[in-house]
Amino acid sequence: MRIAATAPELRREIAALPRPLVLVPTMGALHEGHLALVRRAREKAGPAGTVAVSIFVNPIQFDRPGDLAAYPKPLEDDLAKCRDAGVDLAFTPESGAMYFPDRSITVTESLLSTHLCGATRPGHFDGVCTVVLKLFNLFQADAAVFGEKDVQQLAILRRMVRDLDVPVEIIGYPTVREADGLAMSSRNVRLTPEHRADAPRIRRALEGARSLLQFGERAAAPFLAAARKHLEESPFAQIDYLELVDAETLQPVGQIRKPAVLATAVFYGEVRLIDHVTLLP
Ligand code: PAF
Repeated sequence: MRIAATAPELRREIAALPRPLVLVPTMGALHEGHLALVRRAREKAGPAGTVAVSIFVNPIQFDRPGDLAAYPKPLEDDLAKCRDAGVDLAFTPESGAMYFPDRSITVTESLLSTHLCGATRPGHFDGVCTVVLKLFNLFQADAAVFGEKDVQQLAILRRMVRDLDVPVEIIGYPTVREADGLAMSSRNVRLTPEHRADAPRIRRALEGARSLLQFGERAAAPFLAAARKHLEESPFAQIDYLELVDAETLQPVGQIRKPAVLATAVFYGEVRLIDHVTLLP
């Protein structure tokens, strides 16, 4: 596996590597969910193509300094996992190698980011779009794989690529879960044992609400009420948001007439977890 830590190193490596190049952008602390994205990238690249992983804890997408400071950074472990997974190229820049101290350009999405995480994490998606566009430019990737767990991120990145004519194919990959249903996340390791034991209720709350569809329910309010009730029964969980939005525009809906998404973010102490279910009428 080749490793690059700066943009010039990366360009040199990429020039020598075969196409297609499929990128898996990550912030490290790799878990089975990331490795599933790497396997999907290999499937897309083929045995002769290049699978690249970027490992960069992007400071400009964090809205809480404490979250950035506590974000796990097990770089050596991550590189070993990449090697084992057959990654061809890892990009591991320091913050200074990615951003000029006087950088003054930011990519802003102004519709899909107005609800869900975009509403409670000001500037988060500006940071995501800016770094991902930079990564696309640096890698000149043919395709990139993102987890569907970050449903809003995926929709926004698809929109960015569409609106800015970025020549990259975006591939979504289904959420990978622990055996008890908790969505895999690099933040899970920061949960206390009590919080970890309680956190699968997020999935149960969303799935429980989704079952209302079978009874013909289409009004948003009962779905939201059912999920909220289950989450509020937790002695630990604090709801950051719980919203039912159109799957395409990510704007709140009162009635489910088209595919919709019931999404939540929940705090366990300082650790914020997200999950969602898709509702197909
Ligand atoms: O999903 C993530 O891990 C990050 O938001 C991403 C896409 C790597 C950008 O920093």
